Amino acid sequence: MGKIKVAIAGLGNCASALIQGVFYYQNADPSETIPGLMHVKFGDYHVGDLEFVAAFEVNKDKIGKDISDAIWIPPNSAEKFSEVPKLDALVYPGPISDGVAPHMRKSFRAYDENKVQPVNVAEVLKETGADVLVNFTPVGSEETSRLYAQAALDAGVAFANGIPTFIVSDPDGVWPKKFEEKGIPCAGDDIKSQLGATILHRTIVKLMLDRGIEIDKTFQLNIGGNTDFENMKYEDRLKTKRVSKTQAVTSLLPYDVPTRIGPSDYVPFLKDKKICYLYVEGRNFGNQPLKVEVKLSVEDSPNSAGVMIDVIRALKIAKDRGIAGPLISISSYAFKHPPVQIPDFEARERVEAFIRGELDR
Ligand SMILES: NC(=O)c1ccc[n+]([C@@H]2O[C@H](COP(=O)([O-])OP(=O)(O)OC[C@H]3O[C@@H](n4cnc5c(N)ncnc54)[C@H](O)[C@@H]3O)[C@@H](O)[C@H]2O)c1
Repeated sequence: MGKIKVAIAGLGNCASALIQGVFYYQNADPSETIPGLMHVKFGDYHVGDLEFVAAFEVNKDKIGKDISDAIWIPPNSAEKFSEVPKLDALVYPGPISDGVAPHMRKSFRAYDENKVQPVNVAEVLKETGADVLVNFTPVGSEETSRLYAQAALDAGVAFANGIPTFIVSDPDGVWPKKFEEKGIPCAGDDIKSQLGATILHRTIVKLMLDRGIEIDKTFQLNIGGNTDFENMKYEDRLKTKRVSKTQAVTSLLPYDVPTRIGPSDYVPFLKDKKICYLYVEGRNFGNQPLKVEVKLSVEDSPNSAGVMIDVIRALKIAKDRGIAGPLISISSYAFKHPPVQIPDFEARERVEAFIRGELDR
């Protein structure tokens, strides 16, 4: 079926891990199992079929560089686990809009808007022949994400929303309708890591409910040292992240319980490592107390990279089949805040049915 041309808005740590992963596994045998991918060959597309054609950034050190050079430029701190050859694909100045919080101007090395003119994103998407645009801009990029989503619509490019701005899961239905009307597929919102805090928390809560435990309260605290955590130091920047992470867990609970979930602190020396503390308290037979306490420690960015590689391939399959609007199965499987929340194992089965062509979304 050929290649999948991918453009990325926000060439930070997640983008670095995603691009490295494609080259790390480019020669994988389709019969192999790769940690973090549903399949080496997802439908007709091998992991090595992803081709990166453009990136949009605000960091003046990354703009103008080949993507293969720009992914190593600070403040990116994702571990290097693969060589990336020259891609002959550039990093373009994207619109800054609300992508850069006041406290992040220095860390993100944002360009001077009096000196640099952002490109027309839709034009670049068309010129480079992109099939899919991935949004990896910082949490709180509300207007920015909509600018990129609109550019995808204008260029006829599928859209994967890695961040918690509610576009694919827009409660008013405005954005899903736009994608349906334009005949373009989309998936989102807020990528769910391979084994991150969200899926671990969901699994523990589901297990407790399935075993008849009455859940009384729960929290999930997360700390990390990358720019994603630095950006989320301030509560006003992370409102949608808190909603997305909280609803991913509370959507499984048939009753209300005191819940506190979200990014909790920035610890610079952790770099791209993330640590999560999970706590669930409940009662079992005889109203006896039961507590589950878990600590998860993980490299943050590679944790979502494989999942996004599957999303990109699902979007390309949808494009090939002429399917438009939100893809329900892959969104439920791969994102924290999808249009429809489905238990994770069921969502995975639905994605398999989608790949086989038995489900159109
Ligand atoms: N496992 C994970 O790492 C994970 C999981 C779920 C969601 N996410 C989300 O994915 C997004 C990316 O995460 P990350 O760790 O790569 O963050 P990051 O801080 O490393 O990267 C964000 C990049 O966006 C760039 N940027 C800022 N404003 C921009 C604009 N207007 N246009 C284009 N680029 C802009 C920054 O310069 C930076 O390079 C975040 O919103 C994060 O919350 C990540």
